[in-house]
Amino acid sequence: MSAGLVVSGVSVQLGGQPILSGIDMRAASGTMTGLIGPNGAGKSTLMRAILGLLPHGGSVTFDSSDLVTLPRRARAQFTAFVEQNSDTDARLTAREVVMLGRIPFQPVWQASPAPHDLSLAEAALTAVGMTAFTDRLYQTLSGGEQQRIQIARALAQQPRLLLLDEPTNHLDVHAQLATLDLLRQRAHAGATVLLALHDLNLAASFCDSLVVLHGGRVAAAGPPETVLTPALLRQVYGVDAAILRHPGTGRPLIAYGLPG
Ligand SMILES: Nc1ncnc2c1ncn2[C@@H]1O[C@H](COP(=O)(O)OP(=O)(O)OP(=O)(O)O)[C@@H](O)[C@H]1O
Ligand SMILES: [Mg+2]
Repeated sequence: MSAGLVVSGVSVQLGGQPILSGIDMRAASGTMTGLIGPNGAGKSTLMRAILGLLPHGGSVTFDSSDLVTLPRRARAQFTAFVEQNSDTDARLTAREVVMLGRIPFQPVWQASPAPHDLSLAEAALTAVGMTAFTDRLYQTLSGGEQQRIQIARALAQQPRLLLLDEPTNHLDVHAQLATLDLLRQRAHAGATVLLALHDLNLAASFCDSLVVLHGGRVAAAGPPETVLTPALLRQVYGVDAAILRHPGTGRPLIAYGLPG
């Protein structure tokens, strides 16, 4: 019996090429896990495989039930996904995009949204600081505003398993910190949060554990303090790194540069 996400031996081939090879990883309930690794390492592919969005070998369970064979609607009632690039209907308002997160919970015969669904959408918009934008057409929002609306859509789903692919993309520094703080709060309230990040300092500050992908394999996994070593950063990213301490939080703070 394992609480949370357990990925065992997941392999993916695309275009005749192996993209992921025998991935084993865990993300425990009540924790925030960062998925890091260079461009092309397989982070987005792994997230899509976890959610059964592409064919793969191996198994994926959440709270011991098989995630991949679940019907789509049943899976959407406890999982949410913020993709790296979200395609959203151009004619929707910000509120309507957030309300998409409530569709898995609405009976097919329901003509208009229930008050409960509307209040969850409003709460999610408040949480990401976007209440002033609710009636704007989604397409007219800036990149960072759109990203925050996508995060609100996922939060409105009240997922027990939340996957986010580079959620701090497009966000200013305050919004990056506020968003990761919000996600960590959801995790520590009991959700399982798995997010792909490129900023290693944000990953070190906010994540309880990290999984490092490199060339479609797991190169390291564990708490940021043990995973983020100069040797690993040289091997995986080809950078020279010094690991310092954040003066405020005591978390690892990485100073990196090109070798030589
Ligand atoms: N249909 C495809 N055919 C062949 N290769 C593919 C296909 N789709 C993805 N890939 C390759 O799979 C690898 C992993 O891609 P993926 O998007 O998972 O990487 P990533 O770790 O998310 O990278 P990034 O940090 O740039 O988002 C990349 O090398 C990509 O070019
Ligand atoms: Mg990606």
